[in-house]
Amino acid sequence: MSLPQLHLASGRHKRLEAGHPWVFSNEIKSGKEPGPRDGPRDGLRDGPRDEEEGRDAGAPEGGALVALRRADGKSLGVGLYHPHSLIAVRLLSGASRDVTLDQAFFVERIAAAHKRRERALGKDQTEPPAGVRVVHGESDGLPGVVVDRYGEVLVVQVACLGMEQRREVLYDALEEVFSPRAIVERNDTVWRTQEGLDERVGVVRGEVVSEVVLVEHGLRYGVDVLEGQKTGWFLDQRDHRLAIRPYAEGSRVLDLCCYQGGFTCNALAAGARSVRAVDVSERGLARVVANAAANDLERGLTIQKDDVMALAGGGPPGGDPFDLVVLDPPNFTRNRKGVPRARKAYRKLNEAALRWLAPGGVLATASCSHHIYEDTFLEIVQSAAARAGRSLRVLYRGYQPADHPVLLAMPETRYLKFYLVQLV
Ligand SMILES: C[S@@+](CC[C@H](N)C(=O)[O-])C[C@H]1O[C@@H](n2cnc3c(N)ncnc32)[C@H](O)[C@@H]1O
Repeated sequence: MSLPQLHLASGRHKRLEAGHPWVFSNEIKSGKEPGPRDGPRDGLRDGPRDEEEGRDAGAPEGGALVALRRADGKSLGVGLYHPHSLIAVRLLSGASRDVTLDQAFFVERIAAAHKRRERALGKDQTEPPAGVRVVHGESDGLPGVVVDRYGEVLVVQVACLGMEQRREVLYDALEEVFSPRAIVERNDTVWRTQEGLDERVGVVRGEVVSEVVLVEHGLRYGVDVLEGQKTGWFLDQRDHRLAIRPYAEGSRVLDLCCYQGGFTCNALAAGARSVRAVDVSERGLARVVANAAANDLERGLTIQKDDVMALAGGGPPGGDPFDLVVLDPPNFTRNRKGVPRARKAYRKLNEAALRWLAPGGVLATASCSHHIYEDTFLEIVQSAAARAGRSLRVLYRGYQPADHPVLLAMPETRYLKFYLVQLV
């Protein structure tokens, strides 16, 4: 069956030929050639283009598979189309491959992604119940699809219309590859609104589950897959929770934006003298206490419900300086427009954290916004240090782990930065 054809405006194919899988709505061939201000658009928040003019005759339905071509007619591959999203096409294949979006297609991509995790993280991913991101969207050839595996339970997030329309086939394929005890939908991400998709959360296959147990670095955590943030746990900080341990031993530790206490429990397990865990989320803090108790680590733990931005103007929480501060704030910007505000917020928090350190103290600082590039983040931390009158040495630089792979041609997939810096 021949697919509807979409042509790019002239000169717009270079990024795609280099391996970036998105076509922005203003890059599709139109009656008029794009003007100088029509660059590739950034950030889904900017909203879709209003007018529909310029599509090839007989524009395809939303979610349809389309054959994408350069302005000169050369094939660029097959992708999923959205007529109203800023991302008009999400490519599924290179120029030379046809795609049929059936169960076999999904099984092939999921099985390949799973194999990559087994190689990187070891085969033993269910016993004890480890948490692994088995599908990381575009980086695994499944645009808009995230699948986190907690032992025998899979938690799925779908963030694009084309995949939403095929979600039952996706679930069939996940059952074929993993034979899970349950599949849970966490379709409540902000990205869905921009694709015109509604919110849906619940168990879609298998047993009814809400809480699962996760074991990470020998510590047990209860994870609420229905109501926790993201899919229930921040799997991407796994390696960094281990990286803080040597600096936590015997230390007074402050864990800012602690969520359910991943860093807190690792600090306590490493022999921290005390840990103060701060977050705005009451639910998160209740879980910090439960998780510490589940690992027999309550001694020395204090929780504090607070807004870290408000704390940042004052002295160290609790009054005394810390030997280790962990700062893992939420994503401060989802688009390029928000970068200046995000920079200020990161700087303010990093400056406060550095002021609260005792001599020789260590700051573990993270940014999960892809719009804050690595160089920018280093610059922010350095500028915070200058304002705090501190000088820093970098002890460790970390990024997202192997189960959150980066597509080199797609900066949007490269988001997590994490440094350990020490007062000189
Ligand atoms: C990236 S998550 C932290 C993940 C956590 N460090 C871990 O290892 O699982 C960001 C956390 O910041 C919290 N948060 C967001 N805004 C906050 C604020 N203004 N003050 C304190 N906590 C905040 C959220 O509730 C969330 O738990």
